[in-house]
Amino acid sequence: MLNHAFDPEEFRREGHQLVDLLASYLEDCREEKPMAVLPPSDPEAMVDYWANDMKNPGFDLQHFYGTLIQQSNHIHHPHYMGHQVVPPAPLAALTELLEALINNGMAIYEMGPAATAIERVVLRWLAERIGFAGQADGILTSGGSAGNLTALLAARQVKCGYNIWDEGVRADKPLAIMVSAEAHYSISRAARIMGMGETGIVKVPVNSKMQLDSSLLEEIYNKSSRQGLKVIALVGNACSTSTGTFDPLEEMADFAVKHGLWFHVDGAHGGAAAMTEKYRHLCSGIERADSVVIDFHKMMLTPALTTAVLFRNGGYSYETFAQKAAYLLEGNGQKPWFDGAGRTLECTKKMLGVKVYALIRLYGDQLFREYITTTFDLGHSLAAIIRKKEGFELAVEPDGNIVCFRFRPVHFKGNINTLTASVRKKLLEDARFYVVQTSVNGQTYLRVSLMNPFTTIQNLDTMLQLVKTLAESLAGSLNG
Ligand SMILES: Cc1ncc(COP(=O)(O)O)c(C=O)c1O
Repeated sequence: MLNHAFDPEEFRREGHQLVDLLASYLEDCREEKPMAVLPPSDPEAMVDYWANDMKNPGFDLQHFYGTLIQQSNHIHHPHYMGHQVVPPAPLAALTELLEALINNGMAIYEMGPAATAIERVVLRWLAERIGFAGQADGILTSGGSAGNLTALLAARQVKCGYNIWDEGVRADKPLAIMVSAEAHYSISRAARIMGMGETGIVKVPVNSKMQLDSSLLEEIYNKSSRQGLKVIALVGNACSTSTGTFDPLEEMADFAVKHGLWFHVDGAHGGAAAMTEKYRHLCSGIERADSVVIDFHKMMLTPALTTAVLFRNGGYSYETFAQKAAYLLEGNGQKPWFDGAGRTLECTKKMLGVKVYALIRLYGDQLFREYITTTFDLGHSLAAIIRKKEGFELAVEPDGNIVCFRFRPVHFKGNINTLTASVRKKLLEDARFYVVQTSVNGQTYLRVSLMNPFTTIQNLDTMLQLVKTLAESLAGSLNG
């Protein structure tokens, strides 16, 4: 069986067929062949299907691949506008196949020499583009959640005033971070993991544009100090998850400097906009952050997961984990840049930078600039259409490619939140478009993340028409 499993000829044959299958799939998506972009299914029925399939004595790999595609979300279809999941550039996916096979897990340099060097080159490339000067350094992690935790662990070690990593949390002043009320949950989760608890997450309310309200920073900071908290960090969104809003990073950076706080920017979704001419202004101030997280698998066309954690002062990236693992790291717990395990949660790590490197070399900066500008433009176009259409309401003016809206039929007197949630349920059943739902100021809205650069204005018009038709047909039964 082992010889069979490692047969190079079989790999070649199946591989060619798989690439053909995927290329045809991409063509179908590009040609907008009708398909359920989110195949309707129920979790239990899905488990039953695969449990039964597993009992089936016959197994055909290509048939399995085909079925898997059919039962999955079709991210590459222009009608997919659900979550912040990028349709990866196909050659990045191909590069990932190579990574999977050569499998140089890269805890330390010796385990993945080329991948380790490539990671460093990719990080420097990105650091320059967000305006970090030569002192910057960083690490790639598997995802923005791990990235935010990694950055905030460094913030805690640097700003808490003692060696918390070795000594543990002291019983004196509780530590806290100040975050936008709209921060991604991975930020508060990181704070809880670090033992700060709920009181350690000081939320700063947002203004009518859904940005962190910087006019409240001083008052909230003083109140927290009076309550005995030691605030160590301020976290900004670039941009927020729910509405895609960018926080006023310059003002936040000023505040952080004034109070000696660590300034972290969660740019998982939108930090890469700093690379573009048209939308760079949204990220103004990001270059003053102490740490920045950017997901390549959100706005940089890379398969999940690949996240950059960048430190303006690169030395701090060695503060995160002071732990020694003598058999892995160079003598005396010293952590040279090339033994990445000293700076991430992960020990074995995928060759994360390789597919990014391939994209940079294949297409240059232009690819990312064009992608971000095209999808952000699309968000603005959708908002402009919505503003002109009677009955449609925008939750907030979008900064980029995340747009929240709803439709209120004329003479509708019922609960608009219930109607909107019902419309979204019907959209899921219809399955021609994938649209999600969010809550903005306690109000329910439909939410689209326009991640596919091939989504057209016509696609958006068709989606809006479907929303309107569904809302009008449901309104009668929900009218108060
Ligand atoms: C602003 C923000 N930060 C962090 C994350 C978490 O990133 P990941 O899904 O890569 O863990 C997300 C995910 O949606 C996000 O929108």
